[in-house]
Amino acid sequence: MKNKVLITGANKGIGFEVARQLGHLGWSILLGARNEQRGQKAVKILQEEGVNDVEWLKIDFNNLDTIARAAETVRANHSDLNVLINNAGIPGDMHKPGYEFDVTELREVIDVNFYGNFAMVKAFLPILRENNGRILNLTIPIGTSLSNPNFNPFAYKTSKAALNAMIQSLGASFKQNSIPVEIFGVMPGGITTDLNNNSTGPFMKTVSAGGKVIVDLLLNGENYQGQVINEWGVSAEYDTKYSLKSEPR
Ligand SMILES: NC(=O)c1ccc[n+]([C@@H]2O[C@H](COP(=O)([O-])OP(=O)(O)OC[C@H]3O[C@@H](n4cnc5c(N)ncnc54)[C@H](OP(=O)(O)O)[C@@H]3O)[C@@H](O)[C@H]2O)c1
Repeated sequence: MKNKVLITGANKGIGFEVARQLGHLGWSILLGARNEQRGQKAVKILQEEGVNDVEWLKIDFNNLDTIARAAETVRANHSDLNVLINNAGIPGDMHKPGYEFDVTELREVIDVNFYGNFAMVKAFLPILRENNGRILNLTIPIGTSLSNPNFNPFAYKTSKAALNAMIQSLGASFKQNSIPVEIFGVMPGGITTDLNNNSTGPFMKTVSAGGKVIVDLLLNGENYQGQVINEWGVSAEYDTKYSLKSEPR
């Protein structure tokens, strides 16, 4: 069976690159984007590169109706969907301290990075469970700021912490209830994109190298149910002092 993936926020950055790499591997691509013009432009670029099995789907995390409609479209036309990549995300203000945020600002980031992804899982779970599906979520290591004080983006971090908890909790529930869907998180490390103002440096990867990390983890045959893994496929755990510790699986 041909693999079919839906990737949110796939008009640019990591999402677009993963769509491109999987498309070149012969996967069928549902390219999620909130803006039609940006989505169709991305589809056209892939088609010009020879990736022909690609279609834009409107998915806007600020409008949950678009998620419901996308799920209806997939149910009608793409019921063989077997992989969802929850990629769309926003950073919020990466620099100001948490105590300067107001609730509205914080909620905007959590709406996208947590509720948007949760809504995707809810909407697409019925289809994915029919296809022994998988859900890969793009995330970051929460707690990093304690070991690296230079990385302390409050809204980004709190929203991704909720996402990581969702992955772990849903993974446990799927296992307990024999739901044949695997959910896991990938922390690919720093990748140069618009999200970080295209910052570069010794710890940053190009989007092409970062996309390959994600694609390789998706295709390596491992099962990462309920885990949040780093770029080497190692599950990240937090010790009792809340510092990040990587443990071999
Ligand atoms: N870059 C890194 O170093 C890094 C590291 C770890 C994890 N990640 C995660 O990887 C994911 C992709 O990040 P990126 O670096 O590729 O960022 P990016 O280049 O800024 O792309 C973000 C994508 O998300 C979309 N998006 C934003 N808000 C949305 C909404 N309300 N509804 C639907 N789509 C929305 C954007 O669409 P528009 O073009 O319409 O704005 C865009 O397609 C994020 O979840 C991020 O947290 C990134």
